[in-house]
Amino acid sequence: MALIELKNVSAGYGKNIILRDFCISIEEGKLVSLLGSSGCGKTTTLRTIAGFIDVKAGQFLYDGKDYTHVPIHKRGFGYVFQSYALFPHLNVYENVAFGLKRQKTDKKELDTRVLDMLERVGLKGFEKRLPAEMSGGQRQRVALARALVLKPRLLLLDEPLSNLDAKLRVEMRVEIRRLQQEMGITAVYVTHD
Ligand SMILES: Nc1ncnc2c1ncn2[C@@H]1O[C@H](COP(=O)(O)OP(=O)(O)O)[C@@H](O)[C@H]1O
Ligand SMILES: [Mg+2]
Repeated sequence: MALIELKNVSAGYGKNIILRDFCISIEEGKLVSLLGSSGCGKTTTLRTIAGFIDVKAGQFLYDGKDYTHVPIHKRGFGYVFQSYALFPHLNVYENVAFGLKRQKTDKKELDTRVLDMLERVGLKGFEKRLPAEMSGGQRQRVALARALVLKPRLLLLDEPLSNLDAKLRVEMRVEIRRLQQEMGITAVYVTHD
């Protein structure tokens, strides 16, 4: 069964309609990549799925339920932004722990999950570093860990590797795929590359 389905969705900014009658259906456990040139509406599609943008027409189904007007915070999807969007004043540990803290996760469980996640993305020992003290690739791993630690059923990735050099891009692509399969997460990955 499809985990998410966009049925004839129209969405955009004010009068500027970007998605028009857009349909897509994504099976649970798959990683689906949307490839398109700059400005074609990839980010807008992810924002629409995440709930940052109101759907003007059509329907968004999540796990068979009508989620078209469910607010962002009730969707609980993971989102990895192109620009990482880490909290600059928080260290690596605190960045990854942020969502769990907000969910009032038990302290011991929080600690276990954050450390486990940092190990999985290869950042063990980096707990106390600030984002400004890390490379682009390391920051991107923190962003990935921050999203994955919440065990989202759906992960949205917006050109997560575009700021990395070619070699690291290939490595991280494999890494993302491995984590997605290991954790059984459904993912939508947009890229122009
Ligand atoms: N906040 C916004 N307000 C108005 N128009 C926007 C906004 N963000 C994006 N757009 C327009 O929507 C179109 C699609 O943008 P976007 O989804 O960001 O493309 P992509 O991610 O594929 O590069 C572009 O024409 C862009 O100018
Ligand atoms: Mg974009």
